[in-house]
Amino acid sequence: MNNNILVTGANGQIGQILTQELSKIEGNKIFATDINISNTCSYLNILEQDSLSKIIEKHNITQIYHLAAILSARGEQNPIQTWDTNMQGLLNVLEAARLYKLDKIFFPSTIAVFGTGINQNFTANYSALHPTTVYGISKAAGENWCQYYHDKYDIDVRSLRYPGVIGWQTMPGGGTTDYAIDIFHQLIQYGKYTCFLDKDVTLPMLYMEDAINAAIQLMDTPRENIKNRASYNIAGCSFNPQQLFDKIAHYINKPVQIEYQPDFRNNIAKSWPYVIDDSLARQDWGWKANFDLDKIVLDMLENCTKIYTHFDGGEAKFAH
Ligand code: SER
Repeated sequence: MNNNILVTGANGQIGQILTQELSKIEGNKIFATDINISNTCSYLNILEQDSLSKIIEKHNITQIYHLAAILSARGEQNPIQTWDTNMQGLLNVLEAARLYKLDKIFFPSTIAVFGTGINQNFTANYSALHPTTVYGISKAAGENWCQYYHDKYDIDVRSLRYPGVIGWQTMPGGGTTDYAIDIFHQLIQYGKYTCFLDKDVTLPMLYMEDAINAAIQLMDTPRENIKNRASYNIAGCSFNPQQLFDKIAHYINKPVQIEYQPDFRNNIAKSWPYVIDDSLARQDWGWKANFDLDKIVLDMLENCTKIYTHFDGGEAKFAH
């Protein structure tokens, strides 16, 4: 079966890799868009419904992976703009799915939908959602809109809640979990890292390969197996900055140091789950992460080191 897939936010941390992986699948034709264009990515401002419609018509789009969003830390700098972008962007996509009778929609949600009143030690899928950031508020509302469009208009929209996503291929932009990538680049280049979270703030994390597989696996699952039309928790492994640093120090072949200067992101991180219960995703579509902390650290060190060797110690060329 041929799928003509529109990816929004295709120049972002996850978008770039997801676009590459989707295009490797037989029968898929990908149209990658972002507000920041590149050689492989066309311009689309997701707030312009007419432009979205034109792309859908011109490329005969059948599925959308809607990744365009402003993340947690950056979102706090401009709450109203973040709400507009995240909320109106999703509504434009859902409306397009209804009007053009698209086959499937993918909507990434986040652990940021959780806040006060949860069991942080093992946060269940159907916990109460009291988000503490505008990003979390917009994603929690987005989950409800996805459920609404499914129930009312029979739109096949599927969603999962990403924890912090770690990868060497791309740099994150504006998230609270970004430290877990920055730390590798700083320690490899300079042997020192100043962390913006406290040493003992535990967060759920996921390796990029697992994050991409999760999206593709969820979208491949037979429709009748998708019992949850809001969003699925998915877990990789959980650790705090000190545990991550200790593991890197164990595997890296030089002395390294860390110091802690927590900023506003520390409070955001402290309101999120420590460990996520992903049993619903396991049960409904067979989800299981492959990368634990050791595997993540070894793979990150190997690949990030190659980047800096290749660029002769200079700045690596990353998309932000
Ligand atoms: N990585 C995201 C953030 O930190 C969480 O979904 O904002």
